[in-house]
Amino acid sequence: MVKVAVLGHGTVGSGVVELFTKNAKSITSRAGQEMEVKKILDIREFPDLPYADKFTKDFNDILNDSEISIVAEVMGGLSPAFEFTKALLESGKSVVTSNKELVAAKGAELLAIAKEHNVNYFFEASVGGGIPIIRPMHQCLAANEITEVAGILNGTTNYILTKMFHESVPFDEALSEAQRLGYAERNPAADIEGHDACRKICILSSLAFGSHVYPQTVHTEGITKLTLVDVEYAASWGGVIKLIGRAKKQPDGKIIAAVYPAFLSSHSQLANIDDVFNGILIRGNATGDVVFYGRGAGKLPTASAVVADMIDISKSNCTSKSLTWKDSNADNVADYKSEALSFFICADLAEGAQKTVSDVFGEVEMLSRAGQPEGEIAFVTPAMSEYELEEKLGVLSNLMKVKSMIRVLDY
Ligand code: HSE
Repeated sequence: MVKVAVLGHGTVGSGVVELFTKNAKSITSRAGQEMEVKKILDIREFPDLPYADKFTKDFNDILNDSEISIVAEVMGGLSPAFEFTKALLESGKSVVTSNKELVAAKGAELLAIAKEHNVNYFFEASVGGGIPIIRPMHQCLAANEITEVAGILNGTTNYILTKMFHESVPFDEALSEAQRLGYAERNPAADIEGHDACRKICILSSLAFGSHVYPQTVHTEGITKLTLVDVEYAASWGGVIKLIGRAKKQPDGKIIAAVYPAFLSSHSQLANIDDVFNGILIRGNATGDVVFYGRGAGKLPTASAVVADMIDISKSNCTSKSLTWKDSNADNVADYKSEALSFFICADLAEGAQKTVSDVFGEVEMLSRAGQPEGEIAFVTPAMSEYELEEKLGVLSNLMKVKSMIRVLDY
């Protein structure tokens, strides 16, 4: 019998307890022995639950319980989750988590502590909710050099963008619905400003490239500035707008890592990933592109990944050798502006200045939309670095007032 504990009885934590009851038989058969939730930490009271006797408000009840060998940290946030996780690993208990904020900020340190104490720190649920992505990356794709990772990593923003794109639902209304469905972070700014996707691309790129990519080194833009006009132009160009987190290894070994909304062709493997679904593309030098798709948020999808990690740990007797990366001093990330991309530009243009735009940018692809006001110009540039783009826009600054700039990605 393996006894486990759960830190936090929120959306994911209650899902973890539910799965241990609902799927007890298959969990026992896959773990090779029974698994039981012995204690649950939460500051709130849940007197009406059938397992009310398992709750404690004192973390030490779990830390000092020698029967508990695996703990799910599903509280979220940095503190006290970090202190609790560190203490548990140091006391010889394995920890699994859905807490992407903590893994993105402290992953290298916690993995090192787990190794020192011959236990595991697993975080399959931290990226892509119920989608298997962490384990496939370090196990099934282990024979590849991964060159690039890109994905729709945030369910809430994908839900909002889908509603805007297909139903013209206003932003606020779509966000409220995502909150009601339990997809959004406690502070939804983390979703709509791109920080949640940033944390997830930090975890994926650290694992893919072997050195910790810290959130503060990753250029991050959210979706709050996108308008239905941008959406219309994306459609007229033959594509969609998605919030993309991406990381790419350059020939010099440094990593281009960024999160921003991007135009994707409707032929892209990521273009039709809608609603709360996430899609993650891994480019390997043996496999080519592999795409993972599924529910990226929500109670049971995320709990599924947490419990799977616990089952996996119940069968192991040492620290995983492949789920690891080194710490870094943040010099592993390259300047994202140096990468050559095409850009969508929408601007108010002075009368008769269209030829000057073509002279400055070269061959641009002009776009149009229904009801386009006179004086509004929209086009996609040839590939250039962001420094070149800024220089060209500077030359045109007296003729053109830019309303939107969106990067065009080729996945
Ligand atoms: N708020 C996150 C999302 C939850 O919407 O994707 C899953 O990490």
